[in-house]
Amino acid sequence: MKVLLVGATGNVGIRLVASLLTHNHTVVAFVRSASKLESMLSTDVYKRLTVVGGNATDTQSIKRAILDNNCNAVINSAGVAAVAPWGKSELPAIFRTVLDAVQQAGSEKGTPLRVWFMGGTGVLCFPGTQTMLSNYIPIFLEHRANFKLLEALPANSVNWSMLCPSNMVPESADIVVPTNSTSPRLIAKATTPPNWKDSWLLQYIPFFGRVIVAGMNASRLQTTLEQNADLIAEDLEMEDSQWVGKRVGVIDPSK
Ligand SMILES: NC(=O)c1ccc[n+]([C@@H]2O[C@H](COP(=O)([O-])OP(=O)(O)OC[C@H]3O[C@@H](n4cnc5c(N)ncnc54)[C@H](OP(=O)(O)O)[C@@H]3O)[C@@H](O)[C@H]2O)c1
Repeated sequence: MKVLLVGATGNVGIRLVASLLTHNHTVVAFVRSASKLESMLSTDVYKRLTVVGGNATDTQSIKRAILDNNCNAVINSAGVAAVAPWGKSELPAIFRTVLDAVQQAGSEKGTPLRVWFMGGTGVLCFPGTQTMLSNYIPIFLEHRANFKLLEALPANSVNWSMLCPSNMVPESADIVVPTNSTSPRLIAKATTPPNWKDSWLLQYIPFFGRVIVAGMNASRLQTTLEQNADLIAEDLEMEDSQWVGKRVGVIDPSK
């Protein structure tokens, strides 16, 4: 696919550059600073990119980047959710901007775009319930409001997916193409975290039992940045992705 990658200089974004190229996608990197991106990559890798400078709070810039480069997919890894429930970041504005731009570009192209957004584990539901995990561990709440925007979209306007990882760590600081990760492919699941472990606590402690069980499971959900980048890059090879219209939880199969 021809992919507009918004936020290519971030932790996830720079691994996405490598994974997307490894999976033979064409990458249009949308960044605030082309020189920063250039400094993070080898000359060979940088030369394989089309780089567009701009701010991810500018709908027209993103829409133009999509249409001018004839992109059929978009990934947003720009912006970071505030940790505290009372915290505020630029992510909600960036998210809305990218969403507006992909809707408008899809409508002009006459076909909805394939889009991956970044969310967090808190957007997933506690298994067996309709309640988001962030009701039990109220952090990174901005992802929830972003997910609500996706849920409210008219049918067939955007072919979205939201990746909802817990903490992601780097395997390596070296960004190479092809990628050389030795970690296993992630197990993914829609709506709830995969391989959830329940506990007897749930039967005896109604609310706080779930808080404790959510916390216990959260510690098993750490993955690597490279694993998550690879999941998205591999999915974008599919004609019909099973993850369209879904929030997606992930776990390393070794956990
Ligand atoms: N890291 C984790 O463990 C983790 C876990 C779960 C979910 N997430 C979510 O995953 C997403 C990416 O996380 P990350 O760790 O990759 O974040 P990051 O390393 O801080 O990267 C953020 C990226 O956003 C770009 N950006 C910020 N404001 C922008 C703007 N106005 N216009 C254009 N670009 C802008 C930054 O560009 P500059 O280089 O120009 O600053 C940078 O490339 C976030 O939504 C985060 O909440 C992360």
